[in-house]
Amino acid sequence: MHKIAVMPGDGTGPEVTAEAVKVLKAAASKFNFKVELTGFDFGGERYKRTGETLPDSAIEELRKFDAILLGAIGHPDVAPGILEKGILLKARFALDQYINLRPVKLFPGVETPLKDKKPEDIDFVVVRENSGDLYTGTGGITMKGTPHEVAVQSSVYSRFQVDRCLRYAFNYARKYGKKSRGLGKKNTLALSGKTNVLTYVYDLWERAFHEMGDKEFPDIAREYYHVDATTMWFVKNPEWFDIIVTGNMFGDIITDLGAMIQGGMGIAAGGNLNPEGVSMFEPIGGSAPKYTGQGVINPLAAICAAKMMLSTLGEEKAADAIEKAVMYVTSKKIKSLAAGRMGYSTSQVGDLVAEKVAE
Ligand code: IPM
Ligand code: MN
Repeated sequence: MHKIAVMPGDGTGPEVTAEAVKVLKAAASKFNFKVELTGFDFGGERYKRTGETLPDSAIEELRKFDAILLGAIGHPDVAPGILEKGILLKARFALDQYINLRPVKLFPGVETPLKDKKPEDIDFVVVRENSGDLYTGTGGITMKGTPHEVAVQSSVYSRFQVDRCLRYAFNYARKYGKKSRGLGKKNTLALSGKTNVLTYVYDLWERAFHEMGDKEFPDIAREYYHVDATTMWFVKNPEWFDIIVTGNMFGDIITDLGAMIQGGMGIAAGGNLNPEGVSMFEPIGGSAPKYTGQGVINPLAAICAAKMMLSTLGEEKAADAIEKAVMYVTSKKIKSLAAGRMGYSTSQVGDLVAEKVAE
């Protein structure tokens, strides 16, 4: 029995989450496991009503679940930052979800803006550190509003944070890496950093990367790319990449580029993982207010988030079946991933995936 907290959130979040839940239930009955779903209404509407984002009591409540499935956070009537910080970042930090796992995979039939690139060329995973860096809020503003105003916001990393993220990434490369990416027979982990300028923080990352690699993961080949060059190669030679590990801020930026080359926000999913605790899975696209309630938004990203959740919960067969079903839908059924141009409604796309999973 897997106890799942479902937080549909704002905008199109509830519509796509309903389809992810539909597919989850189909997978549970096909692969003989049970899910117990509990809904939570945190989001913009509740904030407007009560002034509450994600209170400490909710965090304690969420700790009791095996995983959290999130729809989308973001409301047009709420100032930017309040819900992002109060709900999404609060959950990530309070539940110590220190890994943000973002697969970048071009599914068959999906259009990529990269000319001449095919599904076999775009298939990698970014392991984004999710607890430190510029996101810690270390810094402040002094002399605010005067001509001498100073703002500081620091990239902060402890060796502990870097090591636990690297260890996750190395183990991930060992388990899921695809061999022979030009480096002989070894699976490869690439570090993306900025050792030429951020000579404190990425010096720490680089040293920790090689020390751990030498000591604990001699079976994994190591590569290093500066982050700016990483974006260049994502566009020109995405086939070079397999598993990439990076800090929180760089990971945020490069995974938006990753989402675009895999076909856009209609398909991109991510997991906020605490491998020792409660993890949270989300489509990374946001709440898309202008499409809310029309039944035209693409639910595949939310369905892929549910797939990642099942894989983390150890239901690998069900996760594989969902991914295959999504591939069937992208290659044989829908015309486009774009909202309103799929050729099907949101719930029809959910039906197509669920029916394929049940087959
Ligand atoms: C993401 C988002 C968040 C982030 C925002 C909404 C706080 O961009 O999940 O990538 O910066 O991490
Ligand atoms: Mn982002």
